[in-house]
Amino acid sequence: MSDQSVVTAMTQAVELAQNNALAAIAATKDLSAVKTLTADLNKKDSPLNTLKSDLGKLTSVDDKRTMGQLLNTASQSVNAALLTRSTELESLEISARVAREAMDLSEFTTRRKRGHTHIVTQATQRLEDVFIGLGFQIAEGPEVETDFYNFEALNMPKSHPARSEFDTMFLEYGDPNSVLLRTHTSPVQIRVMQTWQPPIYAIMPGRVFRRDTPDATHMPVFHQIEGLVIDRGITFAHLAGTIEAFTKAFFGNEFTSRLRPSFFPFTEPSAEFDIRRADGEWIELGGCGMVHPNVLISGGIDPEEFSGFAFGFGIDRMAKERHNVEDIREMYTNDLRFLRQF
Ligand code: DAH
Repeated sequence: MSDQSVVTAMTQAVELAQNNALAAIAATKDLSAVKTLTADLNKKDSPLNTLKSDLGKLTSVDDKRTMGQLLNTASQSVNAALLTRSTELESLEISARVAREAMDLSEFTTRRKRGHTHIVTQATQRLEDVFIGLGFQIAEGPEVETDFYNFEALNMPKSHPARSEFDTMFLEYGDPNSVLLRTHTSPVQIRVMQTWQPPIYAIMPGRVFRRDTPDATHMPVFHQIEGLVIDRGITFAHLAGTIEAFTKAFFGNEFTSRLRPSFFPFTEPSAEFDIRRADGEWIELGGCGMVHPNVLISGGIDPEEFSGFAFGFGIDRMAKERHNVEDIREMYTNDLRFLRQF
């Protein structure tokens, strides 16, 4: 074989070895494959290294130089390709690890979609905050009540005419008309008196029920908040002062309150309280009075030793006034377009 044909054969062999090496590099899937391949390509008997040792077989110095340069270029391009591929795989592996270890913070970005409390809940929570600030504690009672707690213990014996004003819903349970859905939060007063020791400074928010047809200002299910103070030497002046302090704290300093004589079986004397807006308009808010001695006795408290006052008013009405809601039924249709406004 002439040198020329040896050179041609070697040139083809170098090209083939280089292309095979580049293809193998491109096919690597991870860094450890690149590492193994690098070791293989550096072995003495790798195709390119074998060709390098074949250089000695060439007799012409010129051929040796030409083939030597060709082999060097091939080796350089293979080494460059190894480096590029390992850098590439390294950054792929880093981004894969970052993605794998990334913390899922989507809760924060989607928080707004979770909604918020209903305006009646908002009003209840604000009321609780204000009364807690005035030194009151919060109590709760059951929504299903007995005739005793809802009426009897509140100085409304069986024949009392005030009972009919409450449009009571009774349950078919026990003796007829003995178990009912509470018509007001006042029965919680009795439960608190029976379980707590005076001095008592309590508020009792909750859901109440009356047989009413829904209209713009009435719902058969609504919310009230009850207040009860029992201590030594409590007078009507404490009641008036508390109502005034509450009015200013809840509505703002530009508001003021007044009491008008009224009647409730569970208080004596009784009053209705109104608040006056900055524009001079009076708004009726609820009822109040000095706890009737019979009610203290029902609660197990000695009227000779203790006296107290109580008050109660509707929460839904307050939310309605505050947000200028035209029709109270809107608050309970669960229409998101309405609810999302507040
Ligand atoms: N329970 C009464 C009602 O539902 C409201 C009320 C009036 C509560 C006077 C009281 C009070 O505690 O002293 O209409």
